[in-house]
Amino acid sequence: MPFYITTPIYYVNAAPHLGHAYTAIAADVLARHQRQRGEDVFFLTGTDEHGEPVAIAAEEQGVAPIELADRNSQRFQDLMPLLDVSNDFFIRTTDPEHIRRVQEVLTRVRENGYVYEGTYEGWYCPRCADFKTEAEIGPGNTCPIHKIPLTREREDNWFFELSAFQGELERLFDERPDFVMPRHRYNEARAFLAGGLQDVSLTRPKLRWGVEVPWDRSQVFYVWFDALLNYYTALGFARGRQQDLTGRFWPATYHIIGKDILKFHTIYWPALLMAAGLPVPEHVFVHGFLLTPSEDGGEGEKMSKSRGNVIDPFKVIEDFGADALRFYLAREVAFGQDGPVSESGFMTRYETELANDYGNLASRTIAMIRRYRDGRLPATEHDPALVADFEGLVETVCAHLDRAEITTALEEIWKRVRRLNRYVEERAPWQLAKDPEQAAELDRVLATLHEGVRIVTVLLAPYLPGATAKLMAALGRTGPDDLRIDAARWTPAPIEVEALEPLFPKR
Ligand code: ME8
Ligand code: MG
Repeated sequence: MPFYITTPIYYVNAAPHLGHAYTAIAADVLARHQRQRGEDVFFLTGTDEHGEPVAIAAEEQGVAPIELADRNSQRFQDLMPLLDVSNDFFIRTTDPEHIRRVQEVLTRVRENGYVYEGTYEGWYCPRCADFKTEAEIGPGNTCPIHKIPLTREREDNWFFELSAFQGELERLFDERPDFVMPRHRYNEARAFLAGGLQDVSLTRPKLRWGVEVPWDRSQVFYVWFDALLNYYTALGFARGRQQDLTGRFWPATYHIIGKDILKFHTIYWPALLMAAGLPVPEHVFVHGFLLTPSEDGGEGEKMSKSRGNVIDPFKVIEDFGADALRFYLAREVAFGQDGPVSESGFMTRYETELANDYGNLASRTIAMIRRYRDGRLPATEHDPALVADFEGLVETVCAHLDRAEITTALEEIWKRVRRLNRYVEERAPWQLAKDPEQAAELDRVLATLHEGVRIVTVLLAPYLPGATAKLMAALGRTGPDDLRIDAARWTPAPIEVEALEPLFPKR
Protein backbone atom coordinates (compact mmCIF):
# COMPACT_ATOMS: atom_id res chain seq x y z
CA MET A 1 0.00 0.00 0.00
CA PRO A 2 1.27 3.50 -0.77
CA PHE A 3 1.83 5.65 2.31
CA TYR A 4 2.69 9.28 1.63
CA ILE A 5 3.57 11.40 4.67
CA THR A 6 4.70 15.03 4.91
CA THR A 7 5.87 17.63 7.41
CA PRO A 8 5.21 21.35 6.97
CA ILE A 9 7.84 23.06 4.88
CA TYR A 10 9.67 25.40 7.20
CA TYR A 11 10.29 29.11 6.75
CA VAL A 12 13.88 29.99 6.04
CA ASN A 13 13.72 33.29 7.93
CA ALA A 14 15.84 31.72 10.69
CA ALA A 15 17.75 28.56 11.57
CA PRO A 16 15.83 25.41 12.58
CA HIS A 17 14.79 25.03 16.23
CA LEU A 18 13.37 22.27 18.39
CA GLY A 19 9.80 22.76 17.14
CA HIS A 20 10.86 21.96 13.59
CA ALA A 21 12.85 18.94 14.75
CA TYR A 22 9.74 17.77 16.63
CA THR A 23 7.48 17.48 13.60
CA ALA A 24 10.25 15.94 11.50
CA ILE A 25 10.91 13.28 14.16
CA ALA A 26 7.23 12.45 14.62
CA ALA A 27 6.70 12.03 10.88
CA ASP A 28 9.87 9.94 10.70
CA VAL A 29 8.64 7.54 13.40
CA LEU A 30 5.49 6.98 11.34
CA ALA A 31 7.39 6.60 8.06
CA ARG A 32 9.83 4.09 9.54
CA HIS A 33 7.01 2.13 11.15
CA GLN A 34 5.10 1.85 7.87
CA ARG A 35 8.28 0.70 6.12
CA GLN A 36 8.59 -2.04 8.77
CA ARG A 37 5.15 -3.17 7.69
CA GLY A 38 6.30 -3.40 4.09
CA GLU A 39 4.27 -0.41 2.89
CA ASP A 40 5.39 1.65 -0.08
CA VAL A 41 6.42 4.83 1.76
CA PHE A 42 7.26 8.30 0.52
CA PHE A 43 8.26 10.86 3.13
CA LEU A 44 8.60 14.53 2.25
CA THR A 45 9.97 17.54 4.09
CA GLY A 46 11.45 20.82 2.91
CA THR A 47 11.60 24.60 3.13
CA ASP A 48 9.13 27.38 2.41
CA GLU A 49 11.22 30.14 0.92
CA HIS A 50 8.94 32.82 -0.50
CA GLY A 51 6.72 35.47 1.02
CA GLU A 52 6.88 38.13 3.67
CA PRO A 53 8.36 36.16 6.58
CA VAL A 54 11.48 35.55 4.49
CA ALA A 55 11.52 38.88 2.61
CA ILE A 56 11.36 40.86 5.88
CA ALA A 57 14.10 38.82 7.57
CA ALA A 58 16.37 39.21 4.52
CA GLU A 59 15.84 42.96 4.48
CA GLU A 60 16.63 43.19 8.20
CA GLN A 61 19.87 41.31 7.61
CA GLY A 62 20.73 43.31 4.50
CA VAL A 63 20.93 40.29 2.20
CA ALA A 64 18.98 39.20 -0.86
CA PRO A 65 16.09 36.85 -0.03
CA ILE A 66 17.63 34.03 -2.07
CA GLU A 67 20.86 34.34 -0.14
CA LEU A 68 19.06 33.95 3.19
CA ALA A 69 16.99 31.11 1.72
CA ASP A 70 20.06 29.24 0.48
CA ARG A 71 21.83 29.58 3.81
CA ASN A 72 18.94 28.56 6.04
CA SER A 73 17.52 25.88 3.75
CA GLN A 74 20.92 24.22 3.95
CA ARG A 75 20.66 24.21 7.75
CA PHE A 76 17.33 22.39 7.57
CA GLN A 77 18.77 19.92 5.04
CA ASP A 78 21.74 19.30 7.35
CA LEU A 79 19.48 18.80 10.37
CA MET A 80 17.52 15.87 8.90
CA PRO A 81 20.33 13.28 8.81
CA LEU A 82 21.53 14.48 12.21
CA LEU A 83 18.07 13.66 13.58
CA ASP A 84 18.21 10.33 11.73
CA VAL A 85 15.18 11.50 9.76
CA SER A 86 14.73 9.32 6.68
CA ASN A 87 12.93 11.68 4.30
CA ASP A 88 12.83 10.52 0.69
CA PHE A 89 13.05 14.03 -0.71
CA PHE A 90 13.63 17.59 0.45
CA ILE A 91 11.69 20.21 -1.47
CA ARG A 92 12.62 23.88 -1.80
CA THR A 93 9.89 26.16 -3.06
CA THR A 94 12.45 28.21 -5.00
CA ASP A 95 13.05 25.15 -7.20
CA PRO A 96 11.98 26.07 -10.78
CA GLU A 97 10.25 22.67 -11.05
CA HIS A 98 8.00 23.61 -8.12
CA ILE A 99 7.40 27.13 -9.42
CA ARG A 100 6.31 25.89 -12.85
CA ARG A 101 3.84 23.43 -11.31
CA VAL A 102 2.39 26.03 -8.92
CA GLN A 103 1.72 28.26 -11.91
CA GLU A 104 0.10 25.36 -13.77
CA VAL A 105 -2.22 24.28 -10.95
CA LEU A 106 -3.28 27.81 -10.04
CA THR A 107 -3.95 28.63 -13.69
CA ARG A 108 -6.24 25.60 -13.75
CA VAL A 109 -8.02 26.89 -10.62
CA ARG A 110 -8.62 30.15 -12.50
CA GLU A 111 -9.82 28.34 -15.64
CA ASN A 112 -12.22 26.38 -13.45
CA GLY A 113 -13.80 29.68 -12.45
CA TYR A 114 -12.64 30.17 -8.85
CA VAL A 115 -10.44 33.25 -9.28
CA TYR A 116 -11.63 36.87 -9.58
CA GLU A 117 -10.23 40.38 -9.24
CA GLY A 118 -11.05 42.38 -6.13
CA THR A 119 -9.86 44.60 -3.30
CA TYR A 120 -8.80 43.18 0.03
CA GLU A 121 -9.01 45.09 3.24
CA GLY A 122 -8.31 43.64 6.64
CA TRP A 123 -5.85 42.68 9.36
CA TYR A 124 -2.67 40.82 8.49
CA CYS A 125 0.19 39.21 10.44
CA PRO A 126 3.43 39.42 8.45
CA ARG A 127 5.05 36.70 10.60
CA CYS A 128 2.21 34.22 10.00
CA ALA A 129 1.67 35.59 6.49
CA ASP A 130 -1.97 35.32 7.51
CA PHE A 131 -4.99 37.48 6.75
CA LYS A 132 -6.81 37.17 10.07
CA THR A 133 -10.57 36.85 10.33
CA GLU A 134 -12.35 38.77 13.11
CA ALA A 135 -12.40 35.69 15.34
CA GLU A 136 -8.63 35.24 15.00
CA ILE A 137 -7.56 38.69 16.24
CA GLY A 138 -5.92 39.04 19.67
CA PRO A 139 -6.45 41.91 22.18
CA GLY A 140 -5.56 45.35 20.74
CA ASN A 141 -5.33 44.02 17.16
CA THR A 142 -2.41 41.71 17.83
CA CYS A 143 -1.45 38.32 16.46
CA PRO A 144 -2.46 35.66 19.03
CA ILE A 145 0.52 33.51 17.97
CA HIS A 146 3.33 36.05 17.59
CA LYS A 147 1.93 38.73 19.94
CA ILE A 148 2.90 41.49 17.49
CA PRO A 149 0.59 44.26 16.21
CA LEU A 150 -1.34 43.27 13.09
CA THR A 151 -1.05 45.56 10.09
CA ARG A 152 -4.03 46.99 8.24
CA GLU A 153 -3.78 45.93 4.59
CA ARG A 154 -5.66 47.28 1.60
CA GLU A 155 -4.73 46.00 -1.81
CA ASP A 156 -6.10 45.21 -5.26
CA ASN A 157 -5.43 41.59 -6.03
CA TRP A 158 -6.80 38.29 -7.27
CA PHE A 159 -9.08 36.33 -4.98
CA PHE A 160 -9.62 32.65 -4.50
CA GLU A 161 -13.34 31.91 -4.13
CA LEU A 162 -13.04 29.91 -0.91
CA SER A 163 -16.71 30.53 -0.08
CA ALA A 164 -17.74 28.39 -3.07
CA PHE A 165 -16.49 25.33 -1.15
CA GLN A 166 -18.53 25.79 2.03
CA GLY A 167 -20.89 22.94 1.19
CA GLU A 168 -18.30 20.58 -0.22
CA LEU A 169 -16.06 21.06 2.83
CA GLU A 170 -18.98 20.43 5.18
CA ARG A 171 -19.63 17.19 3.33
CA LEU A 172 -15.97 16.24 3.57
CA PHE A 173 -16.04 16.75 7.34
CA ASP A 174 -19.33 14.88 7.68
CA GLU A 175 -18.23 11.90 5.67
CA ARG A 176 -14.67 11.64 6.98
CA PRO A 177 -14.43 12.16 10.75
CA ASP A 178 -10.73 11.21 10.47
CA PHE A 179 -9.92 13.87 7.91
CA VAL A 180 -8.58 16.02 10.76
CA MET A 181 -7.05 14.33 13.83
CA PRO A 182 -7.11 14.28 16.78
CA ARG A 183 -10.76 14.91 17.53
CA HIS A 184 -10.43 18.27 19.27
CA ARG A 185 -8.65 19.65 16.19
CA TYR A 186 -11.36 18.27 13.95
CA ASN A 187 -13.82 20.21 16.11
CA GLU A 188 -11.74 23.36 15.84
CA ALA A 189 -11.62 23.13 12.03
CA ARG A 190 -15.35 22.43 11.95
CA ALA A 191 -16.02 25.48 14.10
CA PHE A 192 -14.01 27.65 11.72
CA LEU A 193 -16.06 26.28 8.85
CA ALA A 194 -19.30 26.86 10.72
CA GLY A 195 -18.34 30.54 11.06
CA GLY A 196 -18.86 30.84 7.28
CA LEU A 197 -16.06 30.99 4.72
CA GLN A 198 -14.92 34.26 3.18
CA ASP A 199 -12.91 34.47 -0.03
CA VAL A 200 -9.17 34.92 0.43
CA SER A 201 -6.36 36.69 -1.40
CA LEU A 202 -4.66 34.43 -3.90
CA THR A 203 -2.07 36.98 -4.97
CA ARG A 204 -0.13 39.91 -3.52
CA PRO A 205 0.53 43.09 -5.51
CA LYS A 206 3.15 44.69 -3.25
CA LEU A 207 5.48 41.79 -2.75
CA ARG A 208 8.22 40.84 -5.22
CA TRP A 209 9.55 37.72 -3.50
CA GLY A 210 7.26 34.96 -4.72
CA VAL A 211 5.97 32.94 -7.65
CA GLU A 212 4.91 35.22 -10.48
CA VAL A 213 1.22 35.11 -11.44
CA PRO A 214 1.28 33.98 -15.09
CA TRP A 215 -1.77 36.02 -16.10
CA ASP A 216 -0.73 39.17 -14.21
CA ARG A 217 3.03 39.70 -14.04
CA SER A 218 2.63 42.62 -11.60
CA GLN A 219 1.70 40.18 -8.80
CA VAL A 220 3.04 37.11 -7.04
CA PHE A 221 1.01 34.29 -5.47
CA TYR A 222 0.19 34.61 -1.80
CA VAL A 223 2.87 32.48 -0.14
CA TRP A 224 0.45 30.01 1.45
CA PHE A 225 -0.88 28.78 -1.88
CA ASP A 226 2.66 28.40 -3.23
CA ALA A 227 3.65 26.58 -0.01
CA LEU A 228 0.69 24.20 0.33
CA LEU A 229 1.13 23.04 -3.23
CA ASN A 230 4.59 21.65 -2.36
CA TYR A 231 2.96 18.43 -1.17
CA TYR A 232 1.59 17.88 -4.65
CA THR A 233 4.32 19.34 -6.86
CA ALA A 234 7.17 17.43 -5.17
CA LEU A 235 5.88 14.09 -6.43
CA GLY A 236 6.20 15.35 -9.99
CA PHE A 237 9.95 15.94 -9.84
CA ALA A 238 11.43 14.28 -6.72
CA ARG A 239 12.74 11.42 -8.87
CA GLY A 240 13.39 13.48 -11.99
CA ARG A 241 11.17 14.04 -14.99
CA GLN A 242 11.46 10.40 -16.06
CA GLN A 243 9.63 9.14 -12.99
CA ASP A 244 6.50 11.02 -11.94
CA LEU A 245 5.35 9.67 -8.55
CA THR A 246 2.03 11.53 -8.49
CA GLY A 247 -0.09 8.60 -9.64
CA ARG A 248 1.55 6.32 -7.11
CA PHE A 249 1.34 8.52 -4.01
CA TRP A 250 -1.37 11.15 -4.46
CA PRO A 251 -3.47 11.84 -2.41
CA ALA A 252 -1.23 12.08 0.67
CA THR A 253 -1.96 9.68 3.53
CA TYR A 254 -0.84 12.04 6.33
CA HIS A 255 0.05 15.69 6.56
CA ILE A 256 1.64 16.17 10.01
CA ILE A 257 1.45 19.80 11.14
CA GLY A 258 1.48 22.00 14.24
CA LYS A 259 -1.71 23.65 15.46
CA ASP A 260 -0.51 27.11 14.34
CA ILE A 261 -1.24 26.23 10.71
CA LEU A 262 -4.49 24.33 11.11
CA LYS A 263 -6.68 26.71 9.10
CA PHE A 264 -4.44 26.52 6.06
CA HIS A 265 -4.24 22.73 6.00
CA THR A 266 -7.77 21.80 6.99
CA ILE A 267 -9.75 24.51 5.17
CA TYR A 268 -7.76 26.33 2.46
CA TRP A 269 -5.87 23.25 1.29
CA PRO A 270 -8.76 20.85 0.63
CA ALA A 271 -10.71 23.71 -0.98
CA LEU A 272 -7.80 24.52 -3.27
CA LEU A 273 -7.48 20.89 -4.30
CA MET A 274 -11.21 20.69 -4.99
CA ALA A 275 -10.94 23.84 -7.11
CA ALA A 276 -8.12 22.24 -9.09
CA GLY A 277 -10.08 18.99 -9.48
CA LEU A 278 -7.61 16.98 -7.39
CA PRO A 279 -8.30 14.43 -4.62
CA VAL A 280 -7.86 15.67 -1.04
CA PRO A 281 -5.50 14.05 1.49
CA GLU A 282 -6.66 11.25 3.76
CA HIS A 283 -5.60 12.74 7.10
CA VAL A 284 -4.24 15.95 8.54
CA PHE A 285 -2.78 15.22 11.98
CA VAL A 286 -2.42 18.36 14.08
CA HIS A 287 0.03 18.23 16.96
CA GLY A 288 0.42 20.70 19.83
CA PHE A 289 3.16 23.12 20.85
CA LEU A 290 6.32 22.38 22.74
CA LEU A 291 6.28 24.88 25.58
CA THR A 292 8.96 26.32 27.82
CA PRO A 293 8.06 25.75 31.47
CA SER A 294 7.31 29.00 33.28
CA GLU A 295 8.95 30.01 36.57
CA ASP A 296 5.72 29.67 38.54
CA GLY A 297 5.38 26.01 37.63
CA GLY A 298 2.74 26.71 34.96
CA GLU A 299 2.68 25.23 31.49
CA GLY A 300 4.66 28.04 29.90
CA GLU A 301 4.61 29.45 26.42
CA LYS A 302 5.25 28.32 22.86
CA MET A 303 8.86 27.59 22.19
CA SER A 304 9.97 29.61 19.19
CA LYS A 305 13.12 31.05 17.69
CA SER A 306 11.88 34.62 17.79
CA ARG A 307 11.00 34.37 21.48
CA GLY A 308 14.49 33.13 22.23
CA ASN A 309 13.50 30.25 24.49
CA VAL A 310 14.76 27.13 22.81
CA ILE A 311 16.60 23.91 23.51
CA ASP A 312 19.10 23.73 20.66
CA PRO A 313 18.52 20.40 18.85
CA PHE A 314 22.00 20.52 17.29
CA LYS A 315 23.56 20.72 20.74
CA VAL A 316 21.45 17.94 22.28
CA ILE A 317 22.33 15.62 19.40
CA GLU A 318 26.00 16.42 19.75
CA ASP A 319 25.95 15.60 23.46
CA PHE A 320 23.48 12.69 23.60
CA GLY A 321 22.79 11.51 20.06
CA ALA A 322 19.67 11.62 17.89
CA ASP A 323 17.94 8.68 19.60
CA ALA A 324 17.86 10.46 22.94
CA LEU A 325 16.19 13.54 21.45
CA ARG A 326 13.75 11.48 19.40
CA PHE A 327 12.75 9.44 22.42
CA TYR A 328 12.35 12.44 24.69
CA LEU A 329 10.10 14.33 22.28
CA ALA A 330 7.93 11.32 21.43
CA ARG A 331 7.56 10.38 25.09
CA GLU A 332 7.42 13.63 27.06
CA VAL A 333 4.63 15.45 25.23
CA ALA A 334 1.52 13.42 24.37
CA PHE A 335 1.42 13.72 20.60
CA GLY A 336 -1.54 15.96 19.77
CA GLN A 337 -1.37 17.94 23.05
CA ASP A 338 0.75 20.90 24.16
CA GLY A 339 3.41 20.16 26.73
CA PRO A 340 6.47 21.66 28.40
CA VAL A 341 9.99 20.50 27.57
CA SER A 342 13.15 21.30 29.49
CA GLU A 343 16.76 20.24 29.87
CA SER A 344 16.09 18.76 33.30
CA GLY A 345 13.12 16.78 31.97
CA PHE A 346 15.32 15.53 29.18
CA MET A 347 18.05 14.41 31.60
CA THR A 348 15.56 12.57 33.79
CA ARG A 349 14.13 10.56 30.89
CA TYR A 350 17.59 9.89 29.54
CA GLU A 351 18.83 8.45 32.80
CA THR A 352 15.80 6.65 34.15
CA GLU A 353 14.28 5.34 30.94
CA LEU A 354 16.91 5.11 28.21
CA ALA A 355 19.99 4.34 30.30
CA ASN A 356 18.28 2.29 33.04
CA ASP A 357 15.04 0.75 31.80
CA TYR A 358 16.16 -0.09 28.27
CA GLY A 359 19.95 0.27 27.95
CA ASN A 360 20.65 -1.55 31.18
CA LEU A 361 18.12 -4.28 30.43
CA ALA A 362 19.85 -4.95 27.11
CA SER A 363 23.34 -4.91 28.66
CA ARG A 364 22.37 -7.21 31.53
CA THR A 365 20.60 -9.69 29.28
CA ILE A 366 23.57 -10.00 26.95
CA ALA A 367 26.08 -10.03 29.80
CA MET A 368 24.27 -12.87 31.57
CA ILE A 369 24.00 -15.00 28.43
CA ARG A 370 27.72 -14.50 27.94
CA ARG A 371 28.66 -15.12 31.57
CA TYR A 372 26.51 -18.18 32.22
CA ARG A 373 26.27 -19.68 28.72
CA ASP A 374 29.28 -18.38 26.84
CA GLY A 375 27.01 -16.30 24.60
CA ARG A 376 25.00 -19.26 23.23
CA LEU A 377 21.66 -20.89 23.99
CA PRO A 378 19.79 -23.69 22.24
CA ALA A 379 16.29 -23.09 20.84
CA THR A 380 14.07 -23.06 23.94
CA GLU A 381 10.37 -22.65 24.66
CA HIS A 382 9.64 -19.25 26.21
CA ASP A 383 8.08 -18.62 29.60
CA PRO A 384 4.29 -18.55 28.98
CA ALA A 385 3.76 -16.01 31.77
CA LEU A 386 5.80 -13.44 29.93
CA VAL A 387 4.52 -14.38 26.50
CA ALA A 388 0.99 -13.75 27.82
CA ASP A 389 1.97 -10.21 28.88
CA PHE A 390 2.99 -9.45 25.27
CA GLU A 391 -0.29 -10.75 23.83
CA GLY A 392 -1.71 -8.37 21.20
CA LEU A 393 1.18 -5.93 21.52
CA VAL A 394 2.04 -5.76 17.81
CA GLU A 395 -1.60 -5.21 16.87
CA THR A 396 -2.02 -2.50 19.50
CA VAL A 397 1.12 -0.65 18.42
CA CYS A 398 0.07 -0.83 14.76
CA ALA A 399 -3.43 0.41 15.57
CA HIS A 400 -2.06 3.40 17.49
CA LEU A 401 0.46 4.27 14.81
CA ASP A 402 -2.18 4.00 12.09
CA ARG A 403 -3.78 6.89 13.97
CA ALA A 404 -0.42 8.68 14.38
CA GLU A 405 -0.57 8.18 18.17
CA ILE A 406 3.16 7.95 18.64
CA THR A 407 3.19 8.63 22.38
CA THR A 408 0.52 6.05 23.19
CA ALA A 409 2.20 3.41 21.02
CA LEU A 410 5.52 4.10 22.75
CA GLU A 411 3.91 3.73 26.18
CA GLU A 412 2.55 0.31 25.17
CA ILE A 413 6.06 -0.77 24.21
CA TRP A 414 7.56 0.75 27.35
CA LYS A 415 5.17 -1.19 29.58
CA ARG A 416 6.85 -4.32 28.21
CA VAL A 417 10.31 -2.89 28.76
CA ARG A 418 9.35 -2.41 32.41
CA ARG A 419 7.78 -5.88 32.49
CA LEU A 420 11.08 -7.37 31.30
CA ASN A 421 12.95 -5.56 34.06
CA ARG A 422 10.57 -7.01 36.62
CA TYR A 423 11.09 -10.43 35.08
CA VAL A 424 14.83 -10.18 35.64
CA GLU A 425 14.24 -9.36 39.30
CA GLU A 426 11.58 -12.06 39.76
CA ARG A 427 13.59 -14.86 38.16
CA ALA A 428 17.02 -13.73 39.39
CA PRO A 429 19.15 -15.65 36.86
CA TRP A 430 22.19 -15.15 39.12
CA GLN A 431 20.47 -17.36 41.70
CA LEU A 432 19.50 -20.02 39.16
CA ALA A 433 23.11 -20.06 37.95
CA LYS A 434 24.27 -21.24 41.36
CA ASP A 435 22.21 -24.42 41.19
CA PRO A 436 23.21 -27.03 38.54
CA GLU A 437 19.75 -28.62 38.78
CA GLN A 438 18.26 -25.37 37.49
CA ALA A 439 20.30 -25.42 34.29
CA ALA A 440 17.31 -25.97 31.98
CA GLU A 441 15.33 -23.31 33.83
CA LEU A 442 18.21 -20.85 33.47
CA ASP A 443 18.26 -21.54 29.72
CA ARG A 444 14.55 -20.85 29.55
CA VAL A 445 14.72 -17.61 31.57
CA LEU A 446 17.64 -16.28 29.56
CA ALA A 447 16.05 -17.24 26.22
CA THR A 448 12.79 -15.61 27.31
CA LEU A 449 14.58 -12.42 28.30
CA HIS A 450 16.54 -12.39 25.07
CA GLU A 451 13.38 -12.81 23.06
CA GLY A 452 11.49 -10.14 24.98
CA VAL A 453 14.36 -7.71 24.49
CA ARG A 454 14.50 -8.54 20.79
CA ILE A 455 10.75 -7.97 20.38
CA VAL A 456 10.68 -4.58 22.09
CA THR A 457 13.74 -3.64 20.05
CA VAL A 458 11.97 -4.36 16.76
CA LEU A 459 9.06 -2.21 17.93
CA LEU A 460 11.35 0.58 19.14
CA ALA A 461 13.28 0.72 15.88
CA PRO A 462 11.23 3.63 14.42
CA TYR A 463 11.87 5.67 17.59
CA LEU A 464 15.50 4.70 18.26
CA PRO A 465 16.97 3.76 14.87
CA GLY A 466 20.59 4.04 16.05
CA ALA A 467 20.48 2.13 19.35
CA THR A 468 18.17 -0.59 18.04
CA ALA A 469 20.50 -1.27 15.08
CA LYS A 470 23.44 -1.68 17.49
CA LEU A 471 21.50 -3.97 19.74
CA MET A 472 20.19 -6.09 16.87
CA ALA A 473 23.77 -6.49 15.66
CA ALA A 474 24.80 -7.74 19.12
CA LEU A 475 21.91 -10.23 18.94
CA GLY A 476 23.20 -11.40 15.56
CA ARG A 477 20.05 -10.24 13.81
CA THR A 478 21.10 -8.05 10.92
CA GLY A 479 19.16 -9.73 8.10
CA PRO A 480 16.82 -7.72 5.86
CA ASP A 481 13.71 -9.10 7.59
CA ASP A 482 14.93 -8.85 11.17
CA LEU A 483 13.39 -5.41 11.68
CA ARG A 484 10.13 -6.18 9.89
CA ILE A 485 7.09 -5.90 12.11
CA ASP A 486 6.44 -9.65 11.73
CA ALA A 487 9.73 -10.27 13.53
CA ALA A 488 8.17 -8.88 16.73
CA ARG A 489 6.73 -12.32 17.65
CA TRP A 490 7.92 -15.01 20.06
CA THR A 491 9.90 -17.45 17.93
CA PRO A 492 12.04 -20.14 19.59
CA ALA A 493 15.45 -20.20 17.84
CA PRO A 494 19.10 -20.83 18.73
CA ILE A 495 20.70 -17.75 20.28
CA GLU A 496 24.15 -16.30 19.89
CA VAL A 497 25.05 -12.89 21.30
CA GLU A 498 28.04 -10.60 21.23
CA ALA A 499 29.30 -8.03 23.71
CA LEU A 500 27.47 -4.71 23.66
CA GLU A 501 28.78 -1.28 24.57
CA PRO A 502 26.36 0.72 26.79
CA LEU A 503 23.64 2.04 24.46
CA PHE A 504 23.02 5.15 26.55
CA PRO A 505 26.10 5.88 28.63
CA LYS A 506 25.49 7.67 31.94
CA ARG A 507 26.72 11.29 32.08
O1 ME8 B 1 4.42 27.81 9.33
N1 ME8 B 1 6.04 23.25 19.05
O2 ME8 B 1 6.64 27.43 8.85
P1 ME8 B 1 7.34 27.55 10.29
C1 ME8 B 1 5.74 22.32 18.14
N2 ME8 B 1 6.19 27.72 6.29
N3 ME8 B 1 5.94 22.47 16.81
C2 ME8 B 1 6.49 23.61 16.40
C3 ME8 B 1 6.85 24.63 17.30
C4 ME8 B 1 6.61 24.41 18.69
N4 ME8 B 1 6.93 25.29 19.64
N5 ME8 B 1 7.39 25.64 16.60
C5 ME8 B 1 7.37 25.26 15.29
C6 ME8 B 1 5.32 27.64 8.54
N6 ME8 B 1 6.82 24.03 15.16
C7 ME8 B 1 5.02 27.51 7.06
C8 ME8 B 1 4.41 26.13 6.81
S1 ME8 B 1 3.42 24.23 5.17
C9 ME8 B 1 2.77 24.18 3.62
C10 ME8 B 1 4.04 25.86 5.37
C11 ME8 B 1 6.67 23.26 13.91
O3 ME8 B 1 8.79 27.58 10.01
C12 ME8 B 1 5.21 22.87 13.68
O4 ME8 B 1 5.19 21.80 12.77
O5 ME8 B 1 6.74 28.63 11.08
C13 ME8 B 1 4.67 24.10 13.03
O6 ME8 B 1 3.44 23.87 12.36
C14 ME8 B 1 5.80 24.43 12.08
O7 ME8 B 1 7.00 24.11 12.82
C15 ME8 B 1 5.82 25.89 11.63
O8 ME8 B 1 7.03 26.13 10.95
MG1 MG C 1 5.81 29.92 12.35
